[in-house]
Amino acid sequence: LADHIQPVRGMNDVLPTQIGLWQHLETTARQVFAAYGYEEIRLPLVEHTDLFKRAIGEFTDVVEKEMYTFTDQGGDSLTLRPEATAGIVRSMISNGLLRGARHKLWLTGPMFRHERPQKGRYRQFHQIDVEAIGFAGPDVDAELIALTARLWRTLGISRVKLQLNSLGTPESRRAYRELLVSYFRSHEDRLDADSRRRLDGNPLRILDSKNPEMKAIVAGAPLLTEHLDPESRDHFNVLCATLDGIGIPYEINPRLVRGLDYYSRTVFEWITDALGSQDAVCSGGRYDGLISQLGGEATPAVGFAMGIERVVELLSQAQVAPQTLKPDVYIVVSGSTAASGALMIAEHLRDTLTHRRFDVGVGGGNFKAQFRRADRSGAVLALIFGDDELARGVVSLKPLRQDSGQTECAVTELATRVESLLVELQPNGAAV
Ligand code: HAM
Repeated sequence: LADHIQPVRGMNDVLPTQIGLWQHLETTARQVFAAYGYEEIRLPLVEHTDLFKRAIGEFTDVVEKEMYTFTDQGGDSLTLRPEATAGIVRSMISNGLLRGARHKLWLTGPMFRHERPQKGRYRQFHQIDVEAIGFAGPDVDAELIALTARLWRTLGISRVKLQLNSLGTPESRRAYRELLVSYFRSHEDRLDADSRRRLDGNPLRILDSKNPEMKAIVAGAPLLTEHLDPESRDHFNVLCATLDGIGIPYEINPRLVRGLDYYSRTVFEWITDALGSQDAVCSGGRYDGLISQLGGEATPAVGFAMGIERVVELLSQAQVAPQTLKPDVYIVVSGSTAASGALMIAEHLRDTLTHRRFDVGVGGGNFKAQFRRADRSGAVLALIFGDDELARGVVSLKPLRQDSGQTECAVTELATRVESLLVELQPNGAAV
C-alpha cells in the first residue's frame, strides 16, 4: 500500500468487530463513576506546550522525548495532550472553578506520546482519567482506589494487583533526594548513561530503571518510605488502614515512583502479569502542589488514569462477552417500489416501538443475499416487504432463530404484532 494509505505507526483503528469491549468498558465505567458522584468533563486535545512542560516536568521522558509538539499558523507552540491531568487543572483555573470548591471529575479520550510502539504501548492511546480536586485527606485516596477495585469486580477482571507508595512532601523528598544522589554518586561508575543523565535532573527516576544491570545498585539505595515527614507518614497509614477496613488488598512498593513530576504523598498503580512488559493498567496519585505551581490557588488533589487498550486486552483475555447492540428486526426489501414503502414502515415502527432496533436492507440485492444479511445482523425477526405485499397492504414476518414458518400481517396491525412476536422470541428481554 502507498504510504498515505497506511495508518500512522502506533495509532490504531478500533473496528466495529472490536468495539463491543470498548463500549462495555465505557458504559460500566460511566455507571460506576456516577455511583461515586463523579461528573464527566470534556476538554480540547491540544493545549499550550508550556502547560505540559510545567505540569509534567522538564526532565521526564514524556516532556523530553515523547510529545507531539507543533507550531500553528499563528506561531503558537501547541502539543497534543500526552495525559489529561494538566488540561483538567488548566480548565479549573481558567474557568475560575477553584475558590475552595471541590470537584469530582472524569474524562475519557485519546492521548498522544511518541513512544516505541509494542503490544500494549501505542502513540495514540486512550485513557479513562478520574480526578478529585479540593480534597486533602486520605479518605478520598481510599475512595478512588475502592472505585477502581469496584470497576475491576464489575468487569470481571481479576488479574490485577494494587501497589502503593508515598512520595512524601516536596521538602521531605528534597532531603531524600540528596541522600539518593550521594548514594548514586558513590556508585557512579556502575550507572548506565540514562541514569547518569538523571542524576542531576530527576534522580528518583533511576529507581524506576528498567535496565537489569541497574537492579543491584537500585536495590541498595535508601528508601523514601524510611524518610517520610510525619504528616505524610500519618496520611499513608490512614490510607492503608482504610483499605484494610474496606477489604482491598495491596502491596507497598517503596520503589514505585511514577514517571510524571507532579506527585506528592500517595501514588498507586494497578499492575498485571497478563500484558507482557506493559504491566501498568491504571496509575495515579496525589498532586497537592500542582495547582498552585500552575498559578491557581493552592488546592490539594488526587487522581488516576487507566489505559483503555490495556483494560480491553484484559477483558478479552477474561473472555467477557462483548455487548454490541444488535438489531431486533431486519427488514428484507424486494422490488423497487417496495423500497420506499419499506423505509416508511420502518420509520413508523421506530416511532411506535422506540425501544426496538430495526435494520432495513437498503441497497437491495436478491432475496437470498438479503436473508444472509438478515441472519448475520443478529436480529431475531425478519420482515419481508415486496411489491406483492405492498399491493395487498400486508407484510410477511419470519422468525430467524427458529424454524417456525412465515406469517402475514396487515400493515395497520404491524407494530403490535412485531412487539408481541419479539417478546415471544426474546423471552429474556434481549432488547435494552
Ligand atoms: P500514566 O502512568 O502516564 O499517568 O498513564 C496512565 C495509564 O495510561 C498507564 O497506567 C497505562 O495504562 C496507560 N498508558 C500510558 N502510556 C500508554 C501508551 N503509550 N500506550 C497505552 N497505554 C498507555 C497519567 O497519565 C496521569 N495523568 C494519571 C493521573 C491522573 N495521575 C493523577 N491523575
